[in-house]
Amino acid sequence: MKKTTSDVGLNRTGIQTSPIESKEAIQGALEGLPSSPGSELGIAEVRTEYAREGYGLGTVPVPATLKGMFTTAKEMLKGNKPTVFIDKLGERLGFERTGVRLYEAALSKFDLHGTWPGGPSREQLEKIMRDELSHFVLLREAMEKLGADPTALTPSADLAAVASKGIPAVLTDPRTNLVQCLEALMVAELTDNAGWELLIELAQGLGQTELVDQFEQALGAEAEHLLLVRRWLIAAVTGEAGVREEAGVPAP
Ligand SMILES: [Fe+2]
Ligand SMILES: [Fe+2]
Repeated sequence: MKKTTSDVGLNRTGIQTSPIESKEAIQGALEGLPSSPGSELGIAEVRTEYAREGYGLGTVPVPATLKGMFTTAKEMLKGNKPTVFIDKLGERLGFERTGVRLYEAALSKFDLHGTWPGGPSREQLEKIMRDELSHFVLLREAMEKLGADPTALTPSADLAAVASKGIPAVLTDPRTNLVQCLEALMVAELTDNAGWELLIELAQGLGQTELVDQFEQALGAEAEHLLLVRRWLIAAVTGEAGVREEAGVPAP
């Protein structure tokens, strides 16, 4: 049978593998001996110094054509900032583009490792990848209509990419299997669902009714992605642990 990562092996990271050294380490901690000079306050001071320079995470670019800005002029007069919407559209656009790459990577894991009872089919993974691509196109068109540049990296897009950069790292690590990749995909889909909900709220507030309808459809697809990923993951983990009720599990 194929070895899985939950099998017992040569992991030596815990203190139980070194009884003598672990006693010394505990004694050292009790005596309050620092492992290195200084404290966390030193690095906090350095960060504060940089923060005072006030660079932030950048700005939303000024649209090349102001046509889109005029369509939202009414909201601007009410004191709203259309740049917030453009910033968040840019964030979702970047996330959806990465989403395509994530499922491409998941497909190559599928081809290498295969699936399991209650796990995904290749067609299901391909369908999600196509959904992510269509969401990317939807957002690109929405930004273009507003006169915004869909190729610009907005501050929120930058932030989301940094916050989630571990996800592609898991998917493209040659050591990970498809089940482990699903753990990372679940993080992505949870974030994606919350992101679309926020975008819908914003579009509603700005009176972008056509976009609200399209975004609602995208959210529906994302909710389905999340449901599937969670189901596949539960089937894999409970199956490996030997606690799954076979009757309740759909055929692969
Ligand atoms: Fe997505
Ligand atoms: Fe998704």
